[in-house]
Amino acid sequence: MLDVETSPVPNDLEAFWLPFTPNRHFKREPRLIARAEGLHYITPDGRRILDSSAGLWCCNLGHAHPAVMEAIREQTKRLDFAPTFQFAHTGAFELASRLRELFPGDLDYAFFTNSGSESVDTALKIALCYQRAIGQGTRTRLIGRERGYHGVGFGGISVGGIANNRKFFGTLLTGVDHLPHTLDLEHNAFSRGQPKWGAHLADALERIVELHDPSTIAAVIVEPVAGSIGVYPPPVGYLERLREITAKHGILLIFDEVITAYGRLGTGSAAEYFGVQPDLVTTAKGLTAGTMPMGAVMVRRHVYEAIVEASTAPDWGIELFHGYTYSAHPMSTAAALATLETYRRERVFENAAALAPHFEERLHALRDCPNVIDIRNIGLMGAVQLAPRPGAPGARAYEAMCRGFFEHDIMLRITGDTIALSPPLVCTREDIDEMTGRLRAILEKID
Ligand SMILES: Cc1ncc(COP(=O)(O)O)c(C=O)c1O
Repeated sequence: MLDVETSPVPNDLEAFWLPFTPNRHFKREPRLIARAEGLHYITPDGRRILDSSAGLWCCNLGHAHPAVMEAIREQTKRLDFAPTFQFAHTGAFELASRLRELFPGDLDYAFFTNSGSESVDTALKIALCYQRAIGQGTRTRLIGRERGYHGVGFGGISVGGIANNRKFFGTLLTGVDHLPHTLDLEHNAFSRGQPKWGAHLADALERIVELHDPSTIAAVIVEPVAGSIGVYPPPVGYLERLREITAKHGILLIFDEVITAYGRLGTGSAAEYFGVQPDLVTTAKGLTAGTMPMGAVMVRRHVYEAIVEASTAPDWGIELFHGYTYSAHPMSTAAALATLETYRRERVFENAAALAPHFEERLHALRDCPNVIDIRNIGLMGAVQLAPRPGAPGARAYEAMCRGFFEHDIMLRITGDTIALSPPLVCTREDIDEMTGRLRAILEKID
């Protein structure tokens, strides 16, 4: 068996099929990680790579935070697994109660999953069940948004709006429609925070409602800040307008907060940050600060009550036919409890909020770098968009990522020709200076 402590590299790169990665190039020039601590990954040959993206938007506490690592270690001594179908362990209830405190309004119920994709599919299914439970069973349509990312389940790619994630996979879910996306460089290039132009784009929902009739629409799902596509903060007034229109027509509003929940904007959730109350919130990633796979769907009281409390099933009758073997897995639960406690004790969200203006400043200072056509930011999420090379979209940012890893010891997250930054929430002003400084050095090398 491979001894990861002593082997500098795995002896065979062939068998592992990497997700969302050009495998052929990767296997010629692998970017390998052996360990991580704090804000750094450490390569097999001992280079320290600065993590500018909190893993995949998830390692909000940096890497290997001692409090979370210790909680996981302790949990291994107590309980490895317990089913949450028909039975449960106490940690799951404790975690759900803490999440209830964290999310605004009466988002009082938590349904546990293992990933963002599962959270999205869960939320869509709960929305359909809710409409049926309140006698609105004709409401089966789901509305997403162009360029939205909601993970990779069939539900998620159906409401999602990224062509490459959809076009290879057949007909997807039927009865789905999409709002227009909100990026408009003509009006909003180099906006700081929420762009001022674009609230009216939410009015497209009225037209979709008119086309299909409200009696056919169950839910609208959007990322309050579109993340994976390259950080699109919502125009001022846009989310409020979506809430208004959905409420008027009896349509549930789902915020996909897999990236934005747990401090990315300096608050517990984007719902709190923007002061807009959704009916369901999907989360994952920062729930365990990336240490264990876990997600949670937060559900408002009226939705839970319609499906569970008002159920006419007998005592032995299940109210919602849905769940995962690893829903509220004890190890993930322990990690999540320790993560939430660390967020509170170390005032991590407050740190993110305090750093956001400096992050904005440093990010926008990159405007004069070659090929930069837009810079966007909100909270501790930001993006630098590069002009694509003629005939080779994505090549420029890919080169930036590779040079970042091999020449500048920084891990960059890219999507198309956009470089997205989402530093761990525990970083400092100096860390942000370091990240943006290295990014400048990379951009200045790229033609
Ligand atoms: C908004 C959003 N939803 C869902 C997902 C999918 O999460 P996962 O990769 O954990 O399935 C992501 C992942 O980046 C995301 O950003």
